[in-house]
Amino acid sequence: MHLLPSTLICLLTNILSAAAQTRLKLPLDAVSQFNSGNGPFEIPSAPLVSVSVATCSQNSGLRFLVTTESGSATPTTDIILINGQGNFTSAFESGGAVAVEGTGSFEIALSTTGQPMHQALNASQIPLFGDSTSNQAIIFSPPFSRVETPQPTYPNYTMLPVDVPQAFQPDVTPNYTLALFPTTNDAHPQTSCFATRQSIIESQGNVNLNQSLWLRDEAGWRSQFLLGGLTPATNYTAYLILDSTKIAGPMYFATKSAAFPCPLVANLPYCPGVAYAMPLAAPPNGAEIYTGNTLPTTLSDPIRSYLTNFTVTLNSFACGRDMYSPLVTCADCQREYRKWLCTISLPRCSEPSLSNPNGFSSIPPLPTATGLSASKNDQQQVLSALMPQQTSTTPRNKFLPQFDSAYQMLLPCIETCNAMDRACPSFLGFKCPTSQFNGAASYGIGYIDGKDGDQGEGLTGVAQDRYGNVWCQLG
Ligand SMILES: *[C@@H]1O[C@H](CO)[C@@H](O)[C@H](O)[C@H]1NC(C)=O
Ligand SMILES: *[C@@H]1O[C@H](CO)[C@@H](O)[C@H](O)[C@H]1NC(C)=O
Ligand SMILES: *[C@@H]1O[C@H](CO)[C@@H](O)[C@H](O)[C@H]1NC(C)=O
Ligand SMILES: *[C@@H]1O[C@H](CO)[C@@H](O)[C@H](O)[C@H]1NC(C)=O
Ligand SMILES: *[C@@H]1O[C@H](CO)[C@@H](O)[C@H](O)[C@H]1NC(C)=O
Ligand SMILES: *[C@@H]1O[C@H](CO)[C@@H](O)[C@H](O)[C@H]1NC(C)=O
Ligand SMILES: *[C@@H]1O[C@H](CO)[C@@H](O)[C@H](O)[C@H]1NC(C)=O
Repeated sequence: MHLLPSTLICLLTNILSAAAQTRLKLPLDAVSQFNSGNGPFEIPSAPLVSVSVATCSQNSGLRFLVTTESGSATPTTDIILINGQGNFTSAFESGGAVAVEGTGSFEIALSTTGQPMHQALNASQIPLFGDSTSNQAIIFSPPFSRVETPQPTYPNYTMLPVDVPQAFQPDVTPNYTLALFPTTNDAHPQTSCFATRQSIIESQGNVNLNQSLWLRDEAGWRSQFLLGGLTPATNYTAYLILDSTKIAGPMYFATKSAAFPCPLVANLPYCPGVAYAMPLAAPPNGAEIYTGNTLPTTLSDPIRSYLTNFTVTLNSFACGRDMYSPLVTCADCQREYRKWLCTISLPRCSEPSLSNPNGFSSIPPLPTATGLSASKNDQQQVLSALMPQQTSTTPRNKFLPQFDSAYQMLLPCIETCNAMDRACPSFLGFKCPTSQFNGAASYGIGYIDGKDGDQGEGLTGVAQDRYGNVWCQLG
């Protein structure tokens, strides 16, 4: 009989008993967190289990090996990690195990729903940047509960009132949380546990968050994240986390320089899409931002009056009986008019991006010009539609209160006007650009659509991107 050397027997026994001691049974349909450890971690038997893993610390170099049989020396599968997380779905009729190589913290989740619990959500789920000031930012989740506007039926008109109702919040809302930290150059795991641990929102008392629900546009309700206590002129990385384990992002943005003079305006029921900085004095009573209750009525009353009068005029058309288009209705027209009116009446402050401080046109356009055309600088970066406004510049909206700082105005995208033009009956006589408010250049042109109006043929194709670039204000 061939005997094993006693030292080897001893070694094997040690490994097996160590394994027996640390052999932790992972619960089904739950996430297990570990600060360290190599397992093996036992998977209970089940007809179908999605095993998903996520690394929670940087540069851990962790590897996850899974077996679909509980016995030892069975074939293992190396879970492929993409940005720090991975999954493996299989039948585990007689159980299985996960072994971990390397050191670092991690999560293992077992799901019997057929979908791994750890998931990277797709690009449509990336958080939407509203705007920032020197120390605040406003960010939105993707829309989650669409609100169907009733189509006007002749002779009963059911147009939205001037104030879009915000009272009927959805009963069930997705559990979105925001994670935010200053951008670093190092690669990091794009996992919910890493982003949550890295996030400065809870760990650092001076960064505060007010999360609420807002019906921003026809796409539906969104979670609105209002952040305060940020550091001026800093790049931030934001992730949106859904149900603790699904992650969308990253989205990047920068706070404005310390001298940025404009406060944030948001939550206007008559202009629900507005969530940006405006050339106004600091909000009253030490409030963080202006809202529908505090925006000066000298500014909001004319907008409300225009909306009311417009709806009356629109209703003189037999909405819902006579079709002026096979594609659009009076409800679409009212919606697009509202967006255009709000964008053009409520100017947005901005500043050139940190990486490109000279990235704006310093020469005021001619009074006859219709807009700033999208153009590139020597580094082939597309310049934003920024127009310098001096304290002496007569504001385009005569209802805007006097503002005591010079600022850069981010012009509306011409597409906001064209969308209204397309959605409204021709008897209203819209022409884009319009002479209603503009003296000089009113719009950013050639960003989304081409300069001649070719759809999507503009220099950027979009008004803003996930890297913090904002080229024009889409409304
Ligand atoms: C599961 O892992 C595969 C790669 O093995 C990956 O392509 C897939 O996107 C992952 N599924 C989810 C939901 O993350
Ligand atoms: C992205 O995810 C959403 C929600 O899960 C889904 O409706 C949409 O079709 C997905 N888009 C793509 C391009 O996969
Ligand atoms: C208009 O509304 C009234 C009251 O809601 C209803 O009785 C009537 O049938 C409606 N008419 C049409 C043409 O839809
Ligand atoms: C948070 O935001 C909501 C909506 O804007 C507002 O009603 C509420 O007063 C805010 N709460 C705090 C503590 O600022
Ligand atoms: C939402 O998710 C967070 C963590 O991402 C968790 O702490 C919280 O309990 C969840 N809330 C609900 C209502 O499930
Ligand atoms: C709306 O119509 C009323 C009544 O015709 C008029 O007094 C008011 O000036 C109009 N509002 C605007 C902003 O033109
Ligand atoms: C922010 O990011 C931009 C572009 O990636 C970079 O050029 C700039 O130096 C960064 N600014 C800071 C303060 O890190």
